[in-house]
Amino acid sequence: MSPYAHGTGWGTAVPEQVLTNADLEKLVDTDDEWIVSRTGIHERRIASSEQTTASLATEAALQALQVAGLKPTDVDLIIVATSSPEHTFPATACLVQDRIGAIRAGAFDLSAACSGFIFGLHLAAQSIRTGAIRNAVVIGSETLSRLVNWQDRGTCILFGDGAGAFVLQAAEEPGGVLQGVIRSDGSGGDLLSLPAGGSRYPISHKVIEAGLHYIQMNGREVFRFASRVMTQATEEVIRKAGLHLNDIQWVIPHQANLRIIEAAARGLKLPMERCIVNLERYGNTSTASIPLATVEAINDGRVKAGDKIVFVGFGAGLTWGAVYVEWTGPFATRRPFVRPAYIRFLAHVRSALLQVLRRLDAIIWGRVSHFDE
Ligand code: COA
Repeated sequence: MSPYAHGTGWGTAVPEQVLTNADLEKLVDTDDEWIVSRTGIHERRIASSEQTTASLATEAALQALQVAGLKPTDVDLIIVATSSPEHTFPATACLVQDRIGAIRAGAFDLSAACSGFIFGLHLAAQSIRTGAIRNAVVIGSETLSRLVNWQDRGTCILFGDGAGAFVLQAAEEPGGVLQGVIRSDGSGGDLLSLPAGGSRYPISHKVIEAGLHYIQMNGREVFRFASRVMTQATEEVIRKAGLHLNDIQWVIPHQANLRIIEAAARGLKLPMERCIVNLERYGNTSTASIPLATVEAINDGRVKAGDKIVFVGFGAGLTWGAVYVEWTGPFATRRPFVRPAYIRFLAHVRSALLQVLRRLDAIIWGRVSHFDE
């Protein structure tokens, strides 16, 4: 029998620095009333100069492993879904793999913008369900504050920084991530993009003068697209699971805009009390928004083991999708976890030793090939 992919661990990391709407009034021509009425956002978090997408992801991943009672060496797969990776390459996921010492894991970044966490959950769950792997960590992590134009009032009011992670584990008992729908429509790629920094527009003075290294967005069109696909994807995944909306305890949507969530809920005829929303305090944290909202709801007791949940999101690409999950929580067999600080220290020593060995190896082989000449 093929195993099921259970959600057994979770973690988050958010920067301490809060940027309120009142703070934004000092940066651009906007006001609190406009931002709250159009988006529902009151404040967002901004990463400090020491915090990066990988550092937030590492913190969230270690917390999630601690909740699941897994060692980093148990992990087979690390997916970091992100729209603000540390570099074009290497993947942010590889930095996380190194920092937690997940020596058996394959690690890669997933670029599906704000839908990335949904896409990552679906892919990781499928890998577990085929029997190819047993333990995966799916992370959404962002430092979008580094990519927005702080003079563009149409975008800078929306985004915030943060990270969230889930551990998925194989088990024979039914449950966990049971269905998924992932979709894309590249014809709408221009509606939300960050054009520069890739091979199409390598960074140059000209590109920077044109502001192509900042997020560009057609807000009105994205709004229309989002309201439509959130409803569609939720209905489709529930149908695939053979259920009805009334069977679902919670819909946990991508936290982009309260009005989009309200429009989707209206389309579904779902009372807002069954949607988890926390965007008023974090803004749109892209791939991190769904795990950030979920972990908050687990911690305050709303989401419990056995709950039937739909996660649904949309983003640049265009991309959208939904997954249906029967929430599990940590397995009874979980082992006590080693302290995150200790794991970080060991992983750091291991990484440094490997670098020294690699240099020695290069010197030795350099000499050998020199003798060969
Ligand atoms: N403060 C005050 N006024 C603002 C403003 C701000 N921060 N941003 C835009 N405006 C102005 C516009 O300039 C425009 O003025 P004009 O009529 O004089 O030209 C007016 O407000 C209306 O602009 P519009 O863009 O039509 O507003 P909107 O109601 O569509 O709201 C968004 C703008 C961005 C809040 C909304 O379109 C949205 O949330 N879209 C989805 C974006 C999203 O979720 N992106 C992430 C996807 S993962």
